Amino acid sequence: MSLIAPSILNSDFLQLGDTMNMINESQADWVHLDVMDGSYVPNISFGIPIVEAAKQITKKPLDVHLMIVNPEKFIEGFRKAGADLINIHYEACKDKDLVAILKEIKDSGARPAIAINPDTPVDKIYDISEYIDMVLVMSVFPGFGGQKFIEATYDRVKELKQFFIKNNLNTLIQVDGGVSLSNIAKLKSCGTDVMVVGSVIFKAENPKQIISELKSLVN
Ligand code: DX5
Ligand code: ZN
Repeated sequence: MSLIAPSILNSDFLQLGDTMNMINESQADWVHLDVMDGSYVPNISFGIPIVEAAKQITKKPLDVHLMIVNPEKFIEGFRKAGADLINIHYEACKDKDLVAILKEIKDSGARPAIAINPDTPVDKIYDISEYIDMVLVMSVFPGFGGQKFIEATYDRVKELKQFFIKNNLNTLIQVDGGVSLSNIAKLKSCGTDVMVVGSVIFKAENPKQIISELKSLVN
């Protein structure tokens, strides 16, 4: 069974409380929060105060996806705000001591994860796989919800899965971007453990129903 993590990026922020309650009552497993800084990605979303607000209501783990430069500066802040997983981008940490940052996330009490863009080879994370609980394979270029799923993702997930199996690692694989009712089952069969789904859920008239449908496809 794969997990479903709704991304609230394209939800109505005026209704944040209702959105969090809907997710609580749904079959969603986590809540995915997309933090964007306008530097690492060409868009700005939200930061620590929204994570704090979500934490007050949620009954589900908060999966915080940091699309920001210098993520190490904000580990403590996001952890204190209630992040259960802290996901940083490989490309944002190229010239940094990535292992030290991942250890800092773990020491903070959050689960460390690393995200890779569609044009970053998956083998870049092999060396650091013992320091992460999850790898996020981006299936769109980060920055916006509602983009078209990149088909090459299937093979990237398969390659990672094979590596984790071969090395006896139970590292989770997450896919984020353009996930829908029509590709979620195939993503599961390739080895995806966690599905981030944004616009498909929040554009729907009945988001809770769509979450059930997505979940039934990966059961
Ligand atoms: C994109 C974000 C995604 C996005 C997913 O940069 O990381 O989490 O909100 O939304 P959809 O499912 O609409 O692609
Ligand atoms: Zn995301």
